[in-house]
Amino acid sequence: MTTTQYAQRRARLLEKMQHGIAVVPTAPEIARNGDSHYSYRHDSNFYYLSGFTEPEAVLVLIAGVSPKAMLFCREKNPEREIWDGHRYGPDAAREQFGFDAAYPIAQLDEKLAELMGNQPALFYPLGHDAAWDERILKLRSAVRAKVRSGIRAPDEIRDIRALLNEMRLIKDTHELDIMRRAAAISTSAHRRAMQFTRPGLFEYQVEAELLHEFCSHGARHTAYTSIVASGANACVLHYVGNDARLKGGDLLLIDAGCELGSYASDITRTFPVNGKFSAAQKDVYEIVLAAQAAAIGAARPGNAWDAPHNAALRVLAQGFIDLKLCSGSVDAVLENESYKRFYMHRTGHWLGMDVHDVGDYKTGGSANKNESDWRPLQPGMVLTVEPGCYIRPADDVPKALWNIGIRIEDDVAITATGNEVLTEAAPKTVAAIEELMKR
Ligand code: GLY
Ligand code: MN
Ligand code: MN
Repeated sequence: MTTTQYAQRRARLLEKMQHGIAVVPTAPEIARNGDSHYSYRHDSNFYYLSGFTEPEAVLVLIAGVSPKAMLFCREKNPEREIWDGHRYGPDAAREQFGFDAAYPIAQLDEKLAELMGNQPALFYPLGHDAAWDERILKLRSAVRAKVRSGIRAPDEIRDIRALLNEMRLIKDTHELDIMRRAAAISTSAHRRAMQFTRPGLFEYQVEAELLHEFCSHGARHTAYTSIVASGANACVLHYVGNDARLKGGDLLLIDAGCELGSYASDITRTFPVNGKFSAAQKDVYEIVLAAQAAAIGAARPGNAWDAPHNAALRVLAQGFIDLKLCSGSVDAVLENESYKRFYMHRTGHWLGMDVHDVGDYKTGGSANKNESDWRPLQPGMVLTVEPGCYIRPADDVPKALWNIGIRIEDDVAITATGNEVLTEAAPKTVAAIEELMKR
């Protein structure tokens, strides 16, 4: 990605703003314990517009006839750089990242109070970070106090995310390229996990294989905490304990994806610990796989956001009836929602820089509660397709199905003619999984 692409995104945003000032801070560093910090991750919006990954940085944009992009960042500091490494400093940052101007972060309040003066609108992610909200609102009040000297504060505060989320929802070719690469690393990690898995190991040992594959391909961070869930643990949707011993006869559900170049991948595969599906496991698995195929088939441009979900639901509902988990007709099961006992989540979400990426799912914004207004899918959107089935022990459930938890998740990019499954290379048919695990 060259700096031009970031500059083009800023230019597009400035055009959408029409007038006013935008303030986009990056993420804070967060202490974990003692002198130790969580691994730093920049704010996705900030990065999308800047390409700049240092902490303590703020992007300021001024829209209008002569639009401007400014960066506030840490100054060079030879002493700190001995300890923590290179910092660009404003001059080099301006030049390398193509800003119109750059200033030391210490000057932010003073400069921002000046820059806000007489701007009609302030675009800002209000409500995202309480400390920033307080600081920004205080600055606006300070500007307002200058009213007698003829300076006006922005009347209007607008959520910049309304503009940015729509931009981020449609991935450009560079973004799709990075997402393909992230997906490729994650698919090879899932293959590696399948080949490594055998009874007697611990879930965390399989997790270590995933992490090894991510890191050794340059993806040093996961996009989210890996779920490595065997047996009954697979029925806990957000299981992250990853410390149980793998038993022959159990399934292993792995939901894991790396982050590469600030973009997420998100894959789930479920396979037998001993390399061979039992008859009951296979019965449930084939239903989830068929539901996923139906959902992927429905992930096409022009179809509504919930078309894949509805396609998956119909297949699952029929499957649950066949397995005697639900009774009645498919329509009745969908209507009375008895399927929710075994499939309680939705079939996917947007995917991008954030694993649950930004973008409205309905036309007219997130406030739209009308179920019929799901937005149409468009080329450049990337979503996950991840149906599942989670069967907890209960008297009215056939015993052979107890503790079977299955999810199959792929990352799907909508194209002009249909879709591209970015994570195709991770095996998911019974035959392909058993074949890989045999070797
Ligand atoms: N791994 C998070 C999700 O599947 O949504
Ligand atoms: Mn997932
Ligand atoms: Mn997901």
